[in-house]
Amino acid sequence: MDWHPGQAPVDTLRRPLRDLRISVTDRCNFRCTYCMPRDVFDADYPFMPHSALLSFEEITRVARVAMQLGVRKIRLTGGEPLLRKDIEKLVFMLSQLRTPEGKPLELTLTTNGTLLRKKAQALKDAGLRRVTVSLDALDPVLFERMSDSQVAVETVLAGIEAAAQVGLAPVKVNMVVRKGLNDDQILPMVRHFRGTGHVLRFIEYMDVGSTNGWNMSEVMTGRAMLDLIGSHFPVEPVQADYAGEVAERWRYLDGVGEIGVITSVSHPFCRDCSRARMSPEGKLYLCLFADQGYDLRSVVRATDSDEILAGHLAGIWSGRTDRYSELRGTAAQPRTKIEMSYIGG
Ligand code: GTP
Ligand code: 5AD
Ligand code: SF4
Ligand code: SF4
Repeated sequence: MDWHPGQAPVDTLRRPLRDLRISVTDRCNFRCTYCMPRDVFDADYPFMPHSALLSFEEITRVARVAMQLGVRKIRLTGGEPLLRKDIEKLVFMLSQLRTPEGKPLELTLTTNGTLLRKKAQALKDAGLRRVTVSLDALDPVLFERMSDSQVAVETVLAGIEAAAQVGLAPVKVNMVVRKGLNDDQILPMVRHFRGTGHVLRFIEYMDVGSTNGWNMSEVMTGRAMLDLIGSHFPVEPVQADYAGEVAERWRYLDGVGEIGVITSVSHPFCRDCSRARMSPEGKLYLCLFADQGYDLRSVVRATDSDEILAGHLAGIWSGRTDRYSELRGTAAQPRTKIEMSYIGG
């Protein structure tokens, strides 16, 4: 490997490392059927013991080293990240980090919103920039069925409003669309969020993990979603913010805001993928669909030298070949895949 300290590595497809997604817990208070089906994630499921988790100090150290290698954006995920005790302390520690140019991170978090009303102010005070909230339906019965929980949809909506009010904005709202299940919620969601300043994003249902029994027939393509939305509320495309942006952006012609479409199935975006993911116990995954991770925790615990850790991380990234979504359906795809609840979105 020809990496030198101070250099930003690129992988075998010449993609830089810009974005680190850190899962802080594999637990969640929802049991979304496409992510943590209750018959698998039941009372006997072996969730990680607290002792296995990376400490906040260890996570912050990995983040600091990753920033030396090019990371500019960190997203905290889970499971449900707000279930991790004192999460705002981690947010504060990460918010203090600076890039080699002296800038703070773009620091965000993806949550199911149930604890957001209570925690929004503390997260903002700790230095969080924005939040993304997952919400798949407004209809109360469908919402409860999809999240397989007793939480009322109003609780999540109140969390979204609280986040916007304290300035964790613009709030992004992620809706996973499953054809035949919640596609009839697309227009109600559009009507609800148009003009609020929140950015609603529609995600094609993906074959993540091995427990959700994914089938292509349940995928509604981004194109079909846009056709539906556009026939009621005309939209036009917006220029991408940066190469490799996950969501295609669109704005309403009547000027009341913006939506996004995430087409990871019908129109993969691996070519510019600069994202790495770290699990709660410090395994690094180079793709959402990876079948194995690289144990960073033992390196973190074996040495105090950030340079050694940086060299290790750079070596892993330099060897990266992943482009699962481009290979979907071919013989080259991995057989076992990690679960979304373990590695985050
Ligand atoms: P923002 O900067 O806030 O817009 O973040 P983002 O565009 O990275 O979006 P977010 O993290 O909310 O991701 C939205 C969804 O897109 C995730 O929940 C995943 O379902 C999907 N997604 C994100 N990154 C990837 C990726 O690298 N590969 C694939 N296949 N899907 C992804
Ligand atoms: N396909 C698409 N998105 C998914 N998410 C979880 N599982 C899937 C899937 N199979 C989304 C959640 C949340 C984010 C963490 O990932 O809805 O927005
Ligand atoms: Fe929890 Fe998010 Fe998975 Fe739903 S999609 S079970 S909220 S981690
Ligand atoms: Fe990146 Fe893997 Fe998603 Fe492709 S499938 S965009 S390589 S995370």
